[in-house]
Amino acid sequence: MLKEVSPNASSLVMSMRSIGYSFNNAIADIIDNSITAEADLIKIQCLWNGEVPTIEIEDNGKGMSENELIEAMRPGSKSPLSSRSNDDLGRFGLGLKTASFSQCKKLIVKTFQDKLINEASWDLDIVQEQNKWFLDLENSKENTTNLKTGTIIRWEKIDTLSNKNKEDAEETFNSMVSNLGKHIGITFHRYINGDKRKINFIVNGIKCEAFDPFFKEKSTPLPIELIKNQLISCEIRGFTLPNKNKCTEKEWDYFAGEEGYLANQGFYLYRNGRLISNPTWFGLERKSPKRKLCRVRIDINNKSDLLWQLDVKKSSAVPPPVVKRRLKKILRSLLSPAERNFNNQARRLSNRELNPIWERAIKDRGITYQINRNHPLIKDCLEKLDESLYENFQKIFFLIDNGLPSEGIYADYSDDKNINEIEKSDLDYLIKLSSEMINLLSQKEDFDRERAKMSLRTDEPFKKYWEFIEEKI
Ligand SMILES: Nc1ncnc2c1ncn2[C@@H]1O[C@H](COP(=O)(O)OP(=O)(O)O)[C@@H](O)[C@H]1O
Ligand SMILES: [Mg+2]
Repeated sequence: MLKEVSPNASSLVMSMRSIGYSFNNAIADIIDNSITAEADLIKIQCLWNGEVPTIEIEDNGKGMSENELIEAMRPGSKSPLSSRSNDDLGRFGLGLKTASFSQCKKLIVKTFQDKLINEASWDLDIVQEQNKWFLDLENSKENTTNLKTGTIIRWEKIDTLSNKNKEDAEETFNSMVSNLGKHIGITFHRYINGDKRKINFIVNGIKCEAFDPFFKEKSTPLPIELIKNQLISCEIRGFTLPNKNKCTEKEWDYFAGEEGYLANQGFYLYRNGRLISNPTWFGLERKSPKRKLCRVRIDINNKSDLLWQLDVKKSSAVPPPVVKRRLKKILRSLLSPAERNFNNQARRLSNRELNPIWERAIKDRGITYQINRNHPLIKDCLEKLDESLYENFQKIFFLIDNGLPSEGIYADYSDDKNINEIEKSDLDYLIKLSSEMINLLSQKEDFDRERAKMSLRTDEPFKKYWEFIEEKI
């Protein structure tokens, strides 16, 4: 015997609200629908309204007829298995409802098509009270507005904010809005800059700027890898970002992104040009400072969502085994340019024709960094010392060599902190020291002033400020 047991509306609605959308992911899911509806202008208006906030997402896409609107409002409107056009960003027939309900209790959809306006709304208080999916559908009205075709999604009863401390609520709201602009700037950057179909996004009157994590103007692209079979079509392209000394400070800070270079290394997965997940190595590697300049773009279409285990929120996916195997195989070639850059930076310290102040050496137990006893200034000083002071100096050297705070330096370096920048007030001292060093070096056998200068300019701390020093000596 088959007995129909339909879901209990009031409890289902509660579960639909808790899928775990973030505010940004919820808006991105609504935007996906506008893109699928062929909009090229999407305006988002977030208003605080003195503790009764509302959010509207307006697009100039093709809009919906009354029947399409009713279907759109149905939870589970389109099966995830039904076929979709190539540029459809939807999948589960849920996004409009689940994304909205994750943030608010009232969803109003107003849509413009064929000179008509159709409007429908879900009020979850009513669904819960009545324990029935009662949609509030307005009669079609004549469209006398400027928006010829398009759709406005409006959220009211936004209760995700009301749990927060009342005093901080407005501030939280404002910072959410400013983060939203950035999130759109990265999630849809290939639409904003016209790589895909060009779309303009405006959040509270401000145009969203594209943020391209691959810094195409200065990064080095690696060859494209393709994986193509009956089920999967996937394009992989690695980029090695420029070293700090190859970009301006502004560029370096900008392309670090909000979370910094260490967090932002990894695979960036795009579905139909829209960024799905935060950068990750999919468990194939760990995030490490030596790979921090490596970012890899993966492009997939909307035909292999099941294989990629795309989640309802479209905010995570897992590579299918065939892709994972291939990624594993090419991982070395993707990572090595970035790792080589990193290692070169470390090695540069020991490649001196002359005598740097620090020496790097490979010993049995690992790498050591030591004060170079043959450095001309140190040598000169040691030669002038009497026996007891000489002993004292050896002790001091021992402590400096073995007390290098390497973990702290490593942590600061990974965090992209500036390490040992010379203070402005010390620059004159550095210049004076440069002159003295050049004089001292010029006295050495085989050395003249030019060669002394040449060797100094490759050593820290002179190297970093050389342009400045050169002018003054
Ligand atoms: N802004 C919009 N413009 C036109 N149609 C829309 C819009 N938003 C939603 N729809 C319609 O509603 C349907 C359901 O949307 P949604 O719940 O997000 O599921 P999905 O995107 O997975 O199909 C879409 O397939 C589309 O037909
Ligand atoms: Mg959708």
